[in-house]
Amino acid sequence: MKGAACGFALVLLASCGEKNTASADSAKSAADRAKKFVAFMEAAQEEIKALKDDVDRGRGEGAIQPRLTAIRRNISAAQNTPFPKDGVDARELAAAFKSFLERTLQELDEATWDDNSGRVLWKKLLSGCAACHQRFRDG
Ligand code: HEC
Repeated sequence: MKGAACGFALVLLASCGEKNTASADSAKSAADRAKKFVAFMEAAQEEIKALKDDVDRGRGEGAIQPRLTAIRRNISAAQNTPFPKDGVDARELAAAFKSFLERTLQELDEATWDDNSGRVLWKKLLSGCAACHQRFRDG
């Protein structure tokens, strides 16, 4: 009967003893982390879309700086969310985050975003996102 109850482990964890409960908990939190990770990425995506609009409309540094800050905040938050996907080397991913934040984004923070440079800089930012995705997404 105990075995049969464990067959319903997903709904009846409490009856299955410590070990099963612990592994189910960690699976759940891995799923939670994956969800959180994607939520931070999606928030960065919203900012980058809005940033394109700011650039196209020539809104200038006053509008652009807060976007870059929000992108940094969300990408840093993703960086700090341990990514539980199989086949992704955690150290390589960490290095890619570091390079994006400390090189790509840093350069773009320091650059002058004006009517001439804005589009080129925006594309550079997008390529920074894409470079990491090509290596790690679906990987
Ligand atoms: C250092 C690596 C890295 C960087 C930099 C990065 N991402 Fe991601 N991103 C990922 C990974 C890994 C996933 C896949 C998550 C998954 O498969 O569950 C992802 C997923 C996403 C998703 C989720 C939907 C999808 O298409 O899979 C969006 C949206 C996204 N990223 C936007 C961005 C934007 C915008 C930037 C740049 C501002 C960015 N990311 C920079 C690693 C990165």
